[in-house]
Amino acid sequence: MKIFLFIALMLSSYSYAQNEHNHQSDAKKDDHHHGEMHKGDHHGGMHGGGHHHMDKNTLKQFFEPLPASIIDEKKHEALIKLGRMLYMDPRLSVNDQISCNSCHRLDNFGVDSQPTSPGHEGKRGGRNSPTTLNAALHIAQFWDGRAKDVEEQALGPILNPIEMGMPNEAAVVNKLKKIDEYKNLFADAFKGEKDPIQYKNVGKAIGAFERTLLTPSRFDDYLNGDENALNENEKRGLKKFVHMGCANCHNGVAMGGNMYKRLGMVEPYDTKDMGRFEITGLETDKKVFKVPSLRNITKTAPYFHDGSVATLEKAIEEMAEHQLGFEPGPGFISDVKAFLGSLTSKGKE
Ligand code: HEC
Ligand code: HEC
Repeated sequence: MKIFLFIALMLSSYSYAQNEHNHQSDAKKDDHHHGEMHKGDHHGGMHGGGHHHMDKNTLKQFFEPLPASIIDEKKHEALIKLGRMLYMDPRLSVNDQISCNSCHRLDNFGVDSQPTSPGHEGKRGGRNSPTTLNAALHIAQFWDGRAKDVEEQALGPILNPIEMGMPNEAAVVNKLKKIDEYKNLFADAFKGEKDPIQYKNVGKAIGAFERTLLTPSRFDDYLNGDENALNENEKRGLKKFVHMGCANCHNGVAMGGNMYKRLGMVEPYDTKDMGRFEITGLETDKKVFKVPSLRNITKTAPYFHDGSVATLEKAIEEMAEHQLGFEPGPGFISDVKAFLGSLTSKGKE
Protein backbone atom coordinates (compact mmCIF):
# COMPACT_ATOMS: atom_id res chain seq x y z
CA MET A 1 0.00 0.00 0.00
CA LYS A 2 2.79 2.40 1.01
CA ILE A 3 4.76 1.70 -2.13
CA PHE A 4 1.61 2.14 -4.16
CA LEU A 5 0.99 5.57 -2.68
CA PHE A 6 4.59 6.55 -3.21
CA ILE A 7 4.46 5.59 -6.86
CA ALA A 8 1.17 7.44 -7.27
CA LEU A 9 2.74 10.55 -5.83
CA MET A 10 5.81 10.27 -8.04
CA LEU A 11 3.67 9.85 -11.13
CA SER A 12 1.41 12.74 -10.34
CA SER A 13 4.36 14.97 -9.45
CA TYR A 14 6.04 14.00 -12.68
CA SER A 15 3.04 14.76 -14.79
CA TYR A 16 2.77 18.09 -13.04
CA ALA A 17 6.38 18.88 -13.83
CA GLN A 18 5.45 18.49 -17.49
CA ASN A 19 2.86 21.22 -17.10
CA GLU A 20 4.74 23.42 -14.72
CA HIS A 21 5.69 25.97 -17.32
CA ASN A 22 2.25 26.75 -18.52
CA HIS A 23 0.67 27.03 -15.12
CA GLN A 24 1.93 29.04 -12.20
CA SER A 25 0.01 28.01 -9.14
CA ASP A 26 0.05 30.58 -6.38
CA ALA A 27 1.67 28.03 -4.10
CA LYS A 28 4.56 28.26 -6.52
CA LYS A 29 4.74 31.97 -6.08
CA ASP A 30 4.36 32.06 -2.32
CA ASP A 31 6.20 29.04 -1.18
CA HIS A 32 9.78 29.57 -0.45
CA HIS A 33 11.98 26.64 0.23
CA HIS A 34 15.02 26.52 2.35
CA GLY A 35 18.23 24.55 2.28
CA GLU A 36 18.22 20.79 2.33
CA MET A 37 14.79 20.54 3.75
CA HIS A 38 13.48 21.36 0.36
CA LYS A 39 11.28 18.51 -0.71
CA GLY A 40 10.26 19.38 -4.21
CA ASP A 41 8.50 22.21 -5.87
CA HIS A 42 5.91 20.23 -7.72
CA HIS A 43 2.85 21.98 -6.49
CA GLY A 44 -0.63 21.26 -7.67
CA GLY A 45 -0.79 18.62 -10.38
CA MET A 46 -2.30 19.50 -13.68
CA HIS A 47 -3.74 16.86 -15.87
CA GLY A 48 -4.87 18.58 -19.02
CA GLY A 49 -7.05 21.65 -19.08
CA GLY A 50 -6.41 24.76 -17.07
CA HIS A 51 -8.83 23.97 -14.26
CA HIS A 52 -8.21 22.54 -10.87
CA HIS A 53 -9.16 19.09 -11.83
CA MET A 54 -7.59 16.01 -10.28
CA ASP A 55 -7.54 12.85 -12.24
CA LYS A 56 -9.69 10.06 -10.87
CA ASN A 57 -6.91 7.52 -10.51
CA THR A 58 -4.79 9.77 -8.32
CA LEU A 59 -7.83 10.47 -6.17
CA LYS A 60 -8.63 6.78 -5.85
CA GLN A 61 -5.08 5.88 -4.95
CA PHE A 62 -5.13 8.22 -1.97
CA PHE A 63 -8.69 8.54 -0.79
CA GLU A 64 -11.78 6.50 -0.20
CA PRO A 65 -15.30 7.79 0.41
CA LEU A 66 -17.00 6.94 3.70
CA PRO A 67 -18.99 3.75 3.57
CA ALA A 68 -22.73 4.13 4.21
CA SER A 69 -22.31 2.23 7.45
CA ILE A 70 -19.82 0.06 9.35
CA ILE A 71 -22.29 -1.63 11.67
CA ASP A 72 -25.64 -3.24 10.98
CA GLU A 73 -27.72 -0.62 12.76
CA LYS A 74 -30.95 -2.57 12.50
CA LYS A 75 -29.58 -5.78 13.86
CA HIS A 76 -27.74 -4.01 16.68
CA GLU A 77 -30.41 -1.47 17.48
CA ALA A 78 -30.68 -2.35 21.18
CA LEU A 79 -26.91 -2.42 21.62
CA ILE A 80 -26.51 0.98 19.96
CA LYS A 81 -29.31 2.48 22.03
CA LEU A 82 -27.61 1.27 25.22
CA GLY A 83 -24.26 2.57 23.98
CA ARG A 84 -25.65 6.04 23.33
CA MET A 85 -27.17 6.15 26.80
CA LEU A 86 -23.88 5.09 28.43
CA TYR A 87 -21.94 7.59 26.32
CA MET A 88 -24.11 10.44 27.59
CA ASP A 89 -24.37 9.25 31.20
CA PRO A 90 -22.33 11.08 33.88
CA ARG A 91 -23.18 8.29 36.35
CA LEU A 92 -20.32 6.36 34.75
CA SER A 93 -18.03 8.71 36.66
CA VAL A 94 -17.22 8.58 40.36
CA ASN A 95 -18.99 11.84 41.21
CA ASP A 96 -21.80 11.59 38.64
CA GLN A 97 -20.48 14.61 36.80
CA ILE A 98 -18.43 13.53 33.82
CA SER A 99 -19.59 11.53 30.82
CA CYS A 100 -17.85 10.62 27.59
CA ASN A 101 -19.87 13.47 26.15
CA SER A 102 -18.21 16.00 28.50
CA CYS A 103 -14.94 15.71 26.60
CA HIS A 104 -16.30 14.40 23.30
CA ARG A 105 -19.42 16.53 22.83
CA LEU A 106 -21.64 15.23 20.08
CA ASP A 107 -23.17 18.69 19.63
CA ASN A 108 -19.65 20.06 19.12
CA PHE A 109 -18.06 17.72 16.53
CA GLY A 110 -17.02 15.19 19.19
CA VAL A 111 -14.62 17.52 21.03
CA ASP A 112 -14.61 19.97 23.94
CA SER A 113 -12.58 22.64 22.12
CA GLN A 114 -10.01 22.82 24.93
CA PRO A 115 -6.27 22.13 24.67
CA THR A 116 -6.57 19.45 27.38
CA SER A 117 -9.67 18.31 29.22
CA PRO A 118 -10.66 18.63 32.87
CA GLY A 119 -11.69 15.30 34.45
CA HIS A 120 -13.87 14.61 37.50
CA GLU A 121 -11.66 16.65 39.82
CA GLY A 122 -10.86 19.33 37.30
CA LYS A 123 -7.36 17.90 36.75
CA ARG A 124 -6.12 17.72 33.20
CA GLY A 125 -4.08 15.10 31.36
CA GLY A 126 -1.34 15.99 28.92
CA ARG A 127 -3.24 15.26 25.75
CA ASN A 128 -5.96 16.89 23.67
CA SER A 129 -9.32 15.11 23.36
CA PRO A 130 -9.59 13.87 19.78
CA THR A 131 -13.03 13.64 18.19
CA THR A 132 -15.04 10.46 18.52
CA LEU A 133 -16.63 11.15 15.12
CA ASN A 134 -15.33 8.64 12.59
CA ALA A 135 -12.80 7.36 15.17
CA ALA A 136 -14.07 3.79 14.75
CA LEU A 137 -12.44 3.81 11.30
CA HIS A 138 -8.90 4.23 12.68
CA ILE A 139 -6.38 1.36 12.85
CA ALA A 140 -6.28 1.83 16.63
CA GLN A 141 -7.39 4.34 19.25
CA PHE A 142 -5.63 7.18 21.13
CA TRP A 143 -2.90 9.48 19.84
CA ASP A 144 -0.46 6.64 20.37
CA GLY A 145 -2.73 3.79 19.25
CA ARG A 146 -2.60 1.98 22.59
CA ALA A 147 -6.17 0.62 22.42
CA LYS A 148 -6.99 -1.68 19.54
CA ASP A 149 -10.55 -0.49 18.82
CA VAL A 150 -13.38 1.69 20.11
CA GLU A 151 -14.74 -1.16 22.25
CA GLU A 152 -11.46 -1.56 24.13
CA GLN A 153 -10.84 2.20 24.25
CA ALA A 154 -14.19 2.95 25.94
CA LEU A 155 -13.18 0.99 29.03
CA GLY A 156 -10.15 3.18 29.70
CA PRO A 157 -11.57 6.62 30.63
CA ILE A 158 -14.12 5.23 33.09
CA LEU A 159 -11.37 3.89 35.35
CA ASN A 160 -8.83 6.60 34.54
CA PRO A 161 -8.17 8.42 37.84
CA ILE A 162 -8.07 11.87 36.26
CA GLU A 163 -10.93 11.32 33.83
CA MET A 164 -14.06 9.57 35.17
CA GLY A 165 -12.32 8.17 38.26
CA MET A 166 -14.28 4.99 38.98
CA PRO A 167 -12.18 2.82 41.33
CA ASN A 168 -12.56 -0.51 39.52
CA GLU A 169 -14.68 -2.60 37.15
CA ALA A 170 -16.81 -4.09 39.93
CA ALA A 171 -17.74 -0.63 41.17
CA VAL A 172 -18.99 0.32 37.70
CA VAL A 173 -20.99 -2.90 37.37
CA ASN A 174 -22.52 -2.48 40.86
CA LYS A 175 -23.49 1.08 40.12
CA LEU A 176 -25.17 0.15 36.84
CA LYS A 177 -26.99 -2.80 38.44
CA LYS A 178 -28.71 -0.37 40.80
CA ILE A 179 -30.20 1.63 37.92
CA ASP A 180 -33.47 0.00 36.80
CA GLU A 181 -33.37 1.39 33.28
CA TYR A 182 -30.04 -0.31 32.62
CA LYS A 183 -31.37 -3.74 33.66
CA ASN A 184 -33.73 -3.68 30.69
CA LEU A 185 -31.36 -2.02 28.27
CA PHE A 186 -28.53 -4.51 28.96
CA ALA A 187 -30.95 -7.45 28.81
CA ASP A 188 -32.21 -6.28 25.41
CA ALA A 189 -28.75 -5.61 24.08
CA PHE A 190 -27.21 -8.88 25.28
CA LYS A 191 -30.08 -11.31 24.74
CA GLY A 192 -29.42 -14.78 26.06
CA GLU A 193 -26.63 -13.72 28.44
CA LYS A 194 -27.38 -14.71 32.02
CA ASP A 195 -25.64 -11.76 33.57
CA PRO A 196 -25.62 -9.04 30.90
CA ILE A 197 -24.42 -6.14 33.07
CA GLN A 198 -20.69 -6.75 32.80
CA TYR A 199 -17.84 -4.35 32.38
CA LYS A 200 -16.76 -5.65 28.99
CA ASN A 201 -20.35 -5.24 27.75
CA VAL A 202 -20.18 -1.53 28.61
CA GLY A 203 -17.30 -1.29 26.12
CA LYS A 204 -19.16 -3.34 23.50
CA ALA A 205 -22.21 -1.09 23.71
CA ILE A 206 -20.34 2.23 23.66
CA GLY A 207 -18.17 0.94 20.82
CA ALA A 208 -21.24 -0.09 18.79
CA PHE A 209 -22.68 3.39 19.28
CA GLU A 210 -19.40 5.01 18.23
CA ARG A 211 -19.46 2.94 15.02
CA THR A 212 -22.55 4.90 14.01
CA LEU A 213 -20.73 8.24 14.30
CA LEU A 214 -19.77 8.62 10.64
CA THR A 215 -20.04 12.06 9.08
CA PRO A 216 -20.34 12.13 5.27
CA SER A 217 -18.97 15.34 3.74
CA ARG A 218 -18.91 17.15 0.40
CA PHE A 219 -15.52 15.57 -0.26
CA ASP A 220 -17.23 12.17 -0.20
CA ASP A 221 -19.68 13.41 -2.81
CA TYR A 222 -16.70 14.58 -4.86
CA LEU A 223 -15.00 11.18 -4.53
CA ASN A 224 -18.26 9.56 -5.54
CA GLY A 225 -18.17 11.49 -8.80
CA ASP A 226 -19.94 14.79 -8.13
CA GLU A 227 -17.49 17.24 -9.72
CA ASN A 228 -19.42 20.21 -8.41
CA ALA A 229 -19.27 19.16 -4.77
CA LEU A 230 -16.06 21.20 -4.34
CA ASN A 231 -15.56 24.79 -5.45
CA GLU A 232 -12.46 25.95 -7.35
CA ASN A 233 -10.72 27.11 -4.21
CA GLU A 234 -11.22 23.75 -2.52
CA LYS A 235 -10.09 21.87 -5.62
CA ARG A 236 -6.93 23.96 -5.74
CA GLY A 237 -6.35 23.13 -2.07
CA LEU A 238 -6.90 19.43 -2.69
CA LYS A 239 -4.33 19.47 -5.46
CA LYS A 240 -1.76 21.15 -3.25
CA PHE A 241 -2.59 18.78 -0.40
CA VAL A 242 -1.81 15.81 -2.62
CA HIS A 243 1.12 17.17 -4.57
CA MET A 244 2.98 18.67 -1.65
CA GLY A 245 2.79 15.36 0.23
CA CYS A 246 0.15 15.89 2.93
CA ALA A 247 -1.77 12.99 1.44
CA ASN A 248 1.20 10.67 1.96
CA CYS A 249 0.13 10.51 5.59
CA HIS A 250 -3.41 11.87 5.68
CA ASN A 251 -5.13 9.49 3.29
CA GLY A 252 -7.63 6.65 3.13
CA VAL A 253 -11.20 6.71 4.30
CA ALA A 254 -10.56 8.95 7.35
CA MET A 255 -7.88 11.19 5.75
CA GLY A 256 -5.57 9.82 8.44
CA GLY A 257 -6.00 7.33 11.25
CA ASN A 258 -4.37 4.53 9.28
CA MET A 259 -0.65 4.78 10.09
CA TYR A 260 1.87 5.99 12.67
CA LYS A 261 4.42 8.65 11.85
CA ARG A 262 6.97 10.75 13.68
CA LEU A 263 5.98 14.30 14.49
CA GLY A 264 9.00 16.08 13.04
CA MET A 265 9.79 13.77 10.15
CA VAL A 266 11.95 16.39 8.43
CA GLU A 267 12.50 19.17 10.91
CA PRO A 268 12.54 18.05 14.58
CA TYR A 269 9.48 19.04 16.61
CA ASP A 270 9.84 20.10 20.20
CA THR A 271 7.60 18.08 22.52
CA LYS A 272 8.08 16.14 25.74
CA ASP A 273 5.45 13.60 24.72
CA MET A 274 7.25 10.53 23.42
CA GLY A 275 4.11 9.07 21.79
CA ARG A 276 4.33 5.39 20.87
CA PHE A 277 7.74 5.05 22.49
CA GLU A 278 5.92 4.98 25.83
CA ILE A 279 4.15 1.79 24.76
CA THR A 280 6.69 -0.02 22.62
CA GLY A 281 9.92 1.20 24.21
CA LEU A 282 11.44 1.31 20.74
CA GLU A 283 13.86 4.15 20.08
CA THR A 284 12.39 4.55 16.59
CA ASP A 285 8.96 5.21 18.12
CA LYS A 286 10.00 8.42 19.89
CA LYS A 287 7.54 11.21 19.07
CA VAL A 288 5.64 8.83 16.81
CA PHE A 289 1.87 9.35 16.84
CA LYS A 290 -1.09 8.01 14.97
CA VAL A 291 -1.64 10.29 11.99
CA PRO A 292 -4.89 12.01 12.97
CA SER A 293 -7.97 11.96 10.79
CA LEU A 294 -8.70 15.30 9.13
CA ARG A 295 -12.46 14.82 8.90
CA ASN A 296 -14.24 17.78 10.58
CA ILE A 297 -10.81 19.30 11.21
CA THR A 298 -11.93 22.92 10.75
CA LYS A 299 -14.25 22.37 13.74
CA THR A 300 -11.95 20.63 16.20
CA ALA A 301 -9.38 23.25 17.26
CA PRO A 302 -7.07 23.37 19.11
CA TYR A 303 -4.73 20.96 17.39
CA PHE A 304 -1.93 18.42 17.87
CA HIS A 305 -1.57 15.77 20.59
CA ASP A 306 -1.17 18.39 23.30
CA GLY A 307 -3.66 20.92 21.94
CA SER A 308 -0.83 23.44 21.72
CA VAL A 309 -1.65 24.69 18.22
CA ALA A 310 -4.56 27.13 18.36
CA THR A 311 -5.49 27.58 14.71
CA LEU A 312 -5.78 25.45 11.60
CA GLU A 313 -3.55 27.88 9.69
CA LYS A 314 -0.80 27.31 12.23
CA ALA A 315 -1.32 23.53 12.14
CA ILE A 316 -0.96 23.51 8.34
CA GLU A 317 2.16 25.65 8.60
CA GLU A 318 3.73 23.42 11.26
CA MET A 319 2.96 20.33 9.19
CA ALA A 320 4.51 21.77 6.03
CA GLU A 321 7.65 22.71 7.93
CA HIS A 322 8.11 19.75 10.25
CA GLN A 323 6.69 16.88 8.18
CA LEU A 324 7.59 18.00 4.67
CA GLY A 325 10.37 20.56 5.03
CA PHE A 326 9.00 23.57 3.22
CA GLU A 327 7.78 26.94 4.33
CA PRO A 328 4.26 27.39 3.06
CA GLY A 329 3.03 30.72 1.75
CA PRO A 330 -0.36 32.26 2.48
CA GLY A 331 -1.77 30.86 -0.79
CA PHE A 332 -0.91 27.31 0.20
CA ILE A 333 -2.32 27.71 3.67
CA SER A 334 -5.60 29.30 2.62
CA ASP A 335 -6.20 26.86 -0.24
CA VAL A 336 -5.46 23.80 1.88
CA LYS A 337 -7.62 25.20 4.66
CA ALA A 338 -10.46 25.68 2.17
CA PHE A 339 -10.08 22.09 1.01
CA LEU A 340 -10.07 20.82 4.60
CA GLY A 341 -13.39 22.62 5.09
CA SER A 342 -14.94 20.24 2.57
CA LEU A 343 -14.32 17.41 5.07
CA THR A 344 -16.88 18.78 7.52
CA SER A 345 -20.06 16.84 8.18
CA LYS A 346 -22.61 17.85 5.53
CA GLY A 347 -25.20 20.28 6.76
CA LYS A 348 -23.00 21.42 9.65
CA GLU A 349 -20.49 23.50 7.75
C1 HEC B 1 -11.86 14.00 30.86
C2 HEC B 1 -12.00 13.99 29.43
C3 HEC B 1 -12.37 12.67 28.76
C4 HEC B 1 -13.40 11.82 29.08
C5 HEC B 1 -14.40 11.90 30.21
C6 HEC B 1 -13.38 10.80 28.05
N1 HEC B 1 -12.38 11.03 27.16
FE1 HEC B 1 -12.03 10.03 25.46
N2 HEC B 1 -10.26 10.97 25.26
C7 HEC B 1 -9.81 12.01 26.05
C8 HEC B 1 -8.44 12.29 25.74
C9 HEC B 1 -7.58 13.36 26.40
C10 HEC B 1 -8.07 11.38 24.75
C11 HEC B 1 -6.68 11.22 24.13
C12 HEC B 1 -5.81 10.48 25.13
C13 HEC B 1 -4.58 9.86 24.52
O1 HEC B 1 -4.49 9.73 23.31
O2 HEC B 1 -3.69 9.46 25.29
C14 HEC B 1 -9.25 10.58 24.44
C15 HEC B 1 -9.32 9.62 23.43
C16 HEC B 1 -10.50 9.00 23.05
C17 HEC B 1 -10.69 8.23 21.84
C18 HEC B 1 -9.65 7.98 20.77
C19 HEC B 1 -9.94 8.75 19.52
C20 HEC B 1 -8.79 8.70 18.54
O3 HEC B 1 -8.81 9.41 17.54
O4 HEC B 1 -7.81 7.97 18.79
C21 HEC B 1 -11.97 7.77 21.86
C22 HEC B 1 -12.66 6.90 20.82
C23 HEC B 1 -12.57 8.23 23.10
N3 HEC B 1 -11.65 9.00 23.77
C24 HEC B 1 -13.84 7.90 23.54
C25 HEC B 1 -14.26 8.12 24.85
C26 HEC B 1 -15.38 7.45 25.47
C27 HEC B 1 -16.25 6.42 24.81
C28 HEC B 1 -15.48 7.95 26.75
C29 HEC B 1 -16.45 7.54 27.84
C30 HEC B 1 -16.39 6.15 28.27
C31 HEC B 1 -14.43 8.94 26.88
N4 HEC B 1 -13.69 8.99 25.73
C32 HEC B 1 -14.26 9.74 28.00
C33 HEC B 1 -10.57 12.67 26.98
C34 HEC B 1 -11.70 12.14 27.57
C1 HEC C 1 4.87 12.26 7.60
C2 HEC C 1 3.44 12.22 7.88
C3 HEC C 1 2.66 13.52 7.81
C4 HEC C 1 2.62 14.43 6.77
C5 HEC C 1 3.40 14.38 5.47
C6 HEC C 1 1.66 15.43 7.16
N1 HEC C 1 1.13 15.13 8.37
FE1 HEC C 1 -0.31 16.19 9.34
N2 HEC C 1 -0.01 15.04 10.99
C7 HEC C 1 0.84 13.98 11.09
C8 HEC C 1 0.92 13.57 12.47
C9 HEC C 1 1.75 12.42 13.02
C10 HEC C 1 0.10 14.46 13.20
C11 HEC C 1 -0.13 14.46 14.71
C12 HEC C 1 0.69 15.56 15.36
C13 HEC C 1 0.64 15.47 16.86
O1 HEC C 1 0.37 14.41 17.38
O2 HEC C 1 0.91 16.44 17.54
C14 HEC C 1 -0.49 15.37 12.23
C15 HEC C 1 -1.38 16.37 12.54
C16 HEC C 1 -2.01 17.19 11.61
C17 HEC C 1 -3.05 18.14 11.91
C18 HEC C 1 -3.67 18.37 13.28
C19 HEC C 1 -4.70 17.28 13.53
C20 HEC C 1 -5.34 17.36 14.87
O3 HEC C 1 -6.42 16.77 15.04
O4 HEC C 1 -4.79 17.98 15.79
C21 HEC C 1 -3.37 18.77 10.74
C22 HEC C 1 -4.42 19.83 10.54
C23 HEC C 1 -2.52 18.22 9.72
N3 HEC C 1 -1.72 17.26 10.28
C24 HEC C 1 -2.51 18.63 8.39
C25 HEC C 1 -1.48 18.32 7.52
C26 HEC C 1 -1.23 19.01 6.28
C27 HEC C 1 -2.06 20.14 5.71
C28 HEC C 1 -0.11 18.45 5.73
C29 HEC C 1 0.64 18.89 4.48
C30 HEC C 1 1.17 20.23 4.55
C31 HEC C 1 0.29 17.38 6.62
N4 HEC C 1 -0.54 17.34 7.69
C32 HEC C 1 1.37 16.53 6.38
C33 HEC C 1 1.51 13.38 10.04
C34 HEC C 1 1.73 13.99 8.82
